[in-house]
Amino acid sequence: MKIYIGKNYDDMSEKAFETMKAVVTQKPNAVLGLATGSSPEGLYKYMVKDYQENGTNYENISSYNLDEYVGIDRNHPESYYSFMHTRLFDHINIKEENTHLPSGSTKEEADAYEAALEKVSIDVQVLGIGQNGHIGFNEPGTSFDAPTHIVDLTESTLNANKRFFDNDINLVPKQAMSMGLKSIMRSKKIILIASGKEKAEAVKNMIEGPVTEACPASILQNHADVEVFLDPEAASLLSK
Ligand code: GLP
Repeated sequence: MKIYIGKNYDDMSEKAFETMKAVVTQKPNAVLGLATGSSPEGLYKYMVKDYQENGTNYENISSYNLDEYVGIDRNHPESYYSFMHTRLFDHINIKEENTHLPSGSTKEEADAYEAALEKVSIDVQVLGIGQNGHIGFNEPGTSFDAPTHIVDLTESTLNANKRFFDNDINLVPKQAMSMGLKSIMRSKKIILIASGKEKAEAVKNMIEGPVTEACPASILQNHADVEVFLDPEAASLLSK
């Protein structure tokens, strides 16, 4: 793992953007694996700014998102579909038909998303990390062999995400469809972004802890090309 500790959130986001920009300029038809959440928002802002200022071309780029809530209309403001459109897709020239997000609530729909992923090869996968070490919505205890699947969200994740749902845990969808750890590990390169002290323990476990299903992100120690972008707070528990 290559670890970059930025001066602050913005600096960390800019460095992550440099890695992303290198991928999309070297390979104009690259396949991007994308994530939602506050962690990659800064990266997406830099991508939009760069598109506006330099016209970086996304016409032949395609994307596959990591996860989506079950039972939420895609036009709901907190759906990951809405997130991706408002933060990125609506502001660059990626084609709508080239963007893909998981959707549905059944095993058949999850299998269909996995089959689509198996046909492509993700060049760079963007990830955040949950406070409990989840990536995508692969909660602690998820098998490292899991493909795209339907997940029951943990109490920790429901609590972390209620801020988007009027601070009411009852309004947070209880399930999601998520790429599995096996799906994520197939990508050629991984950019993981984490900021804030709430992430420090998960970051430490991911980088320095044992590779264990108790910390899903620890599987990334077994991937050959991972770049981790942290702010000082998220890096604060690392031993070196
Ligand atoms: C969410 C998402 C993850 C995300 C994580 C952290 O529940 N499913 O994909 O990485 O939690 O979110 P944030 O970046 O907002 O802290």
